[in-house]
Amino acid sequence: MELADIDLLDRDTFVKRMPHDWFAYLRENAPIYRHPEPDGPGFWVFSRHRDVVALNRNWENYSSDDRKGGVVEIEGSPERIAAAAALNGAGRMMLTMDPPEHTRYRKLVNRGFTPRVIRSLEDHLREASVRIIENALEKDGGQVDFVVDVAAELPLMAIAEFLGVPYEDRHKMFEWSNKMIGTEDPEYAVSPEDVQAAYYQMFMYANTLGADRRANPREDIVSMLVHGEVDGDKLTETDFDMFFLLLSVAGNETTRNALSQGMVALLDHPEQYQKMVDDPSIIGATAVDEVLRYGSPVMYFRRNVNEDVEYEGHHIAAGDKVTLWYVSANRDESVFENPNTFDVLRATNPHVAFGGGGPHSCIGMHLARLEMKVLFEELVARVPRIEKLAEPVRLRSNFINGVKHLQVRSNKKLDSNFLWTADVGRAMVHVTPPQLIPPRVVPDPFGPSSSRSGSASPHRGETHESAQIPGKPPLLGGRVRGRSARGV
Ligand code: HEM
Repeated sequence: MELADIDLLDRDTFVKRMPHDWFAYLRENAPIYRHPEPDGPGFWVFSRHRDVVALNRNWENYSSDDRKGGVVEIEGSPERIAAAAALNGAGRMMLTMDPPEHTRYRKLVNRGFTPRVIRSLEDHLREASVRIIENALEKDGGQVDFVVDVAAELPLMAIAEFLGVPYEDRHKMFEWSNKMIGTEDPEYAVSPEDVQAAYYQMFMYANTLGADRRANPREDIVSMLVHGEVDGDKLTETDFDMFFLLLSVAGNETTRNALSQGMVALLDHPEQYQKMVDDPSIIGATAVDEVLRYGSPVMYFRRNVNEDVEYEGHHIAAGDKVTLWYVSANRDESVFENPNTFDVLRATNPHVAFGGGGPHSCIGMHLARLEMKVLFEELVARVPRIEKLAEPVRLRSNFINGVKHLQVRSNKKLDSNFLWTADVGRAMVHVTPPQLIPPRVVPDPFGPSSSRSGSASPHRGETHESAQIPGKPPLLGGRVRGRSARGV
């Protein structure tokens, strides 16, 4: 291989495979590499763990500011620039701010992400996972797409639950966030107008929800966010609306692909899945982090150089674009023993799937880990054996390590056993019966005085006017094992 063979802008390569061989070559031969760009000045590629961590923390010189180029696009896509322009003046997201502006914002929203708040969601998430998996298992002799029917559902529910979005509005949220994320994949391509419209609709939705909680505070996270004060400072209306948008974009696709990549890895390594079946306690202890390391759902984030600097013999100039490749750092052989081995018992695992520390480190990491833990725990309780014979369909993106489809066929069968047959091309996943779980009594984390259900909430697609709708039903719309729950 030569450097000239490596083209990180070639999305078609990422459809076929994750080019781990390119990254191994870069780490070994050109760990600080000026990557060419056909219609632009080129960009720096940092592929080693230690550099990714160092630059992630050095926000003084490596800026996330959207006015300097932001953190996502390498070349800059017209759709997103247009969408961002449409929101100009409306507000900015903390993902693309630098300290001290970022610090103020992050302090104000941190209160929504404390371990206590996230723990309070566990029962809801577990109940959601059970229902999602059982619905998938029950699909009559039909095809189940693990990505669409399982992995995509839980993150959507989690964010919606976190933000107090009423049950009946949740797929609207899903639609908007998918459009906002945009993508170069033809299957999901949307027009720039649609991207803008989705931003606008979600922004207005958030505005209505925030206004409702300002007027009628409840014991929920949104009320906590809109009313909370840190050092006499409060989130403005726009701050909250932009935060709502950010969470919807940052929390959905990332976690969906963490779950999907996890499933792909487990299908590839049935003996690792068996370890989780035999001892589910390893899921939360080590397996989830190994899935994150091995699957690296976000491949890179970008930074923009403030001042000229010499870095290990390279002149990095003010205005240069820098990319930090988490997917490569997570396979760095100087940090991880046998980095290409998927080992659900890996004990030392300083992966950077959530960013390499620093001010922008993922604020949703505890929520994401919790979602992964409960979904895999409930899965291994019902699906004890896996066999895979073919590959998943990958997303056309060099930013999100995405899986679009992983077809499985499920049959309820044999002495009240489930037989789950994954049919991914020629893949077969055999599943035996679910262990019966006793019905769960789900305590309301906000206590008996909670008014989470039953008061006014913004209705789907509506804008500033607050619409009165019936109270949202319990998270899953009913009993888990009684099958009264239906899809959102
Ligand atoms: C497995 C799933 C996830 C992965 C791999 C992931 C990855 C990341 C990474 C790498 C960053 C750093 C961005 C940077 O340095 O510029 C980040 C930031 C962020 N993530 Fe996540 N994330 C995940 C789930 C979530 C969830 C569930 C939420 C929300 C509930 C969330 C919300 C955010 C936010 C708001 C930021 C920006 C933080 C800031 O700018 O201070 N993420 N995420």
